[in-house]
Amino acid sequence: MKYYFAPMEGLTDSIFRQVHHKYFPGVDTYYMPFFSPTVHRRLTPREERELPAADGVPFRAVPQVLTRDSDSFLWAAQVCLDRGYDEVNLNCGCPSGTVVAKGKGSGMLGNPETLDRFLGEVFEKTPIAISVKTRLGLEAPEEFYALLEVFNRYPIRELTIHPRVRRQFYSGSADGEMFQWAWENSANPLCFNGDISSPSQAAKLQEAFPGLQSVMIGRGLIADPGMLCGGTDIRLLESYMAELMEAYAAAFGSSRNAMFRLKEHWGLLQSRFPGGEKLFKRLRKSTELGEYNSICSEIFHTLEFK
Ligand SMILES: Cc1cc2nc3c(=O)[nH]c(=O)nc-3n(C[C@H](O)[C@H](O)[C@H](O)COP(=O)(O)O)c2cc1C
Repeated sequence: MKYYFAPMEGLTDSIFRQVHHKYFPGVDTYYMPFFSPTVHRRLTPREERELPAADGVPFRAVPQVLTRDSDSFLWAAQVCLDRGYDEVNLNCGCPSGTVVAKGKGSGMLGNPETLDRFLGEVFEKTPIAISVKTRLGLEAPEEFYALLEVFNRYPIRELTIHPRVRRQFYSGSADGEMFQWAWENSANPLCFNGDISSPSQAAKLQEAFPGLQSVMIGRGLIADPGMLCGGTDIRLLESYMAELMEAYAAAFGSSRNAMFRLKEHWGLLQSRFPGGEKLFKRLRKSTELGEYNSICSEIFHTLEFK
């Protein structure tokens, strides 16, 4: 079974991927947070940095594109190919209001005919393999019956299903029954994504779906970055967080901005430190770097880690 790191805007950028891979190898592929091609047909300096040449990093990564325009997708696919990538991922899952309002991300799921036309156009001309990351629909899981029929018409390298609908964002539970239905009816290989927080959960999935070739993990791997290499050692976690801080501070030219970035990680790491509510509340509120550092040190050296 292959293990993928889910794309997470604001968390799993190029700096993160480098540091994570250095401390905690074991991820087979990092899916990158999306970029949105524009009519200008130019990457912004930030997008340039976020899309390093594929052979410049010591792990496999796959870029993700968010667009509803087939020409823009094909342009982005060529950019990815030129940088040495062998696959590009289409985002059909982003639930954000502004994205969906423009018919992008999970907004692409609202109209199966439009999705079909888009896929027809991109598969006809794509210079590179296409994988898709999708939800079950916008409002109701039953929307997926018609959507899978559309996906089945195209040679999608891998269809990653996050079995929630857009309305749920990340709340409620993932719909295992609908994934089961998709498993029985998909013409393309499937990858499961959603709420995996331990290797034993991944193993259960493999039992339930023999032959499942991959799972994608997001929040679980932020909370337990060493999950795929035998577990997260607390001292290693401390060094990893320190190195992330240093790398972000250098990239942003500001330790304070680096601190805000790392607070996103702490939000998900908190579950590993039972009884740490007060310290974590102070951490969330802190805006001073010195205070932040001393709270982090207190977390690492006084709290139980599970
Ligand atoms: C902060 C955040 C940012 C995300 N950014 C992206 C993204 O750029 N592209 C994408 O396809 N999914 C994105 N997702 C969704 C995740 O890839 C994943 O589908 C979701 O977190 C469920 O998986 P998990 O339960 O393993 O975390 C994001 C999720 C979160 C919480």
